[in-house]
Amino acid sequence: MFSLNTVRLAAILFAASSLFSCTAEWGSNKSWSKGLKPTHFPGSSYAFDPDTLDKSTVELGRALFYDNILSSDSSISCGTCHSQTHAFAGHGTALSAGVDGRLGTRNTPGLSNLAWHESYMLDGGINHLELVPIAPITSKVEMNLPLSEALMRLNTSSYRDRFKKVFGADTINTKLLMKVLTAFELTLVSADAKYDAVLLGEATFTVEEALGEELFMARCASCHVPPLFSEYTYANNGLELYSTDGGRARITLNATDSGSFKIPSLRNAELTYPYMHDGSLYTLDAVLEHYSTGIKDSPNLDPRIEGPMEFTSQEKSALIAFIKTLTDHSLLTNPNLGEP
Ligand code: HEC
Ligand code: HEC
Repeated sequence: MFSLNTVRLAAILFAASSLFSCTAEWGSNKSWSKGLKPTHFPGSSYAFDPDTLDKSTVELGRALFYDNILSSDSSISCGTCHSQTHAFAGHGTALSAGVDGRLGTRNTPGLSNLAWHESYMLDGGINHLELVPIAPITSKVEMNLPLSEALMRLNTSSYRDRFKKVFGADTINTKLLMKVLTAFELTLVSADAKYDAVLLGEATFTVEEALGEELFMARCASCHVPPLFSEYTYANNGLELYSTDGGRARITLNATDSGSFKIPSLRNAELTYPYMHDGSLYTLDAVLEHYSTGIKDSPNLDPRIEGPMEFTSQEKSALIAFIKTLTDHSLLTNPNLGEP
């Protein structure tokens, strides 16, 4: 029989040993987890404490994010559509491509700073991060796997033991599956671009980038609000006169929201092409051409866009130079975020 003290001591030793293995495996674990709540960011919407984000939970989530086991024909994973080298956005196709090459109706957005979003999907149809994975897993045009089958597969694979080690549970249920995927997603924090270094006084903009920033603050920042470059509200930026995808209106059922989409962060926008909810614009040049001369006078056009912005080619180059200062190479290359 163990006395209470022995149990306590064992618990302390166990905690200490997991702490040590954690440091060893993550290398610079301390600075890495510190970066998950950047000091120059506002408070997050989703309450999370990087210090309690358990390494083994994150690792299980990472394994599953990159595992084809969650698609009906075992051909794609979350990471197939959300590619690290493209800041976890899609690439190759304007609309997302799921199992059997089935096209979805929207472009695959980049994933970063998810704890700061108010709601998820381009129309904000999901209001909690932990519920998001159910949508792609079960969608016929994405992974096409009923949740019951996903759980059956996991419970008859080596994941069962891996989950048991981490959570002590005999079976993997929906809650645990969502928990681990969410834990990994929370580590996709992007706050280490040149822009951030300038903000923190560690670097300076070139003359062209500085001109770009000035134009950006005057014409774009009311929607793409720094430092996250979005407050994750919705707007109609004049892509179409009458939108074929209702966007936000599909959720609010309010006709004036038709053609409104979640304002995307522009962090890593250099790599998240093609752009817009329908992937209709392939380059940053094309995006600036849209804002410059292509704005459609939709009845729902956001009042923050008064009409064509008519940038000169020098101004367009400056804006692009500024947008490129938002590229965070550590997000794109951090091995802790890549395929295990
Ligand atoms: C077939 C491609 C594809 C796969 C596979 C896929 N996604 Fe996505 N993901 C998308 C698309 C497209 C959207 C936008 C959907 C919309 O707005 O209706 C999206 C949206 C998201 C969002 C919300 C982003 C935001 O800005 O609101 C998150 C989070 C996300 N996916 C996580 C995942 C996870 C986790 C998996 C694996 C379980 C996954 N995705 C699998 C294509 C994919
Ligand atoms: C009225 C608010 C508003 C203003 C002002 C605005 N945008 Fe946008 N922007 C949006 C919305 C909304 C989208 C997404 C539209 C969609 O998904 O179809 C978007 C999309 C983008 C994208 C594509 C990002 C992606 O990942 O698909 C870029 C790049 C962009 N805007 C740059 C700019 C620049 C540069 C300016 C200033 C010249 C600007 N925006 C001004 C609301 C705005």
